[in-house]
Amino acid sequence: MKKFCFILTALVVTCFLVACSGSQGVSPKTIKEKKKIVVATESEFAPFEFKSLVNGKDTLVGADIELAKAIGEKLGVKVEFSWCPFDNVLANVQSGKADIAIAGISVTDERKKVYDFSDSYYTSENVVIVKKDKVNDYTSTDSLAKQTVGTQKGSVQETVAKKQIPKASVVSLTSNGEMINELKSGQLQAVVLEKAIAEGYIAQNDDLTLANFNLKSDGTDAYAVATRKGSDDLLKEINAVIKETKDSGKFDQWLKEASTYKQSK
Ligand code: ARG
Repeated sequence: MKKFCFILTALVVTCFLVACSGSQGVSPKTIKEKKKIVVATESEFAPFEFKSLVNGKDTLVGADIELAKAIGEKLGVKVEFSWCPFDNVLANVQSGKADIAIAGISVTDERKKVYDFSDSYYTSENVVIVKKDKVNDYTSTDSLAKQTVGTQKGSVQETVAKKQIPKASVVSLTSNGEMINELKSGQLQAVVLEKAIAEGYIAQNDDLTLANFNLKSDGTDAYAVATRKGSDDLLKEINAVIKETKDSGKFDQWLKEASTYKQSK
């Protein structure tokens, strides 16, 4: 009887722990059974993910979106995009609302404690954007002392800006588009973004430019697909897709194609 009670208790405790953690891995088997993979992403991060009018309909486009579709194809399932502000993207994977997240997500030690990451598919670089007519005023991180610098909420740029431009007041905004508008209107004096994204905004706004100084790499420049811990089989499949899209030059092609879409407001 004692033994029975012990086993029962152990069983209940295990079930409780599994249920509480909500962090069971995602397996290719369950995805195939569901016949779809739910991908958490964001929508203001050209050329990786952004909205554009396609045949009169607002549609998510960009290199990350193509990568998600290639993963769906490899698994033989439909892809459902679940988009939300960037600071919720990873949480939606953790809570089980999405199976994976693809949103230009940088791999960090902190995030690795909670999520599993695929191999890296892209290497980014942090840059500073300023107004063209101020480029000779803001020539170093120190020259931004007492100024307001924008970063995206929940992004690694929040930390990069706070560490590397410590004399500025760093604010976080949910929307990159909004952040660019605040820079243009003078509420922000500088914005920290990753190079490919910054270049997209500069190409569309001729009053903006890259600052003439560089930020240091902080070791968080690799983009990867995130999923729940314990998803080894799924990650094998995803890594095979990443290898193929990198080796064949497809990923670079998707980045180029993305620049032919106009970002909708
Ligand atoms: N690479 C940065 C990070 O992981 C920024 C990503 C922002 N992505 C987006 N879709 N807005 O924190």
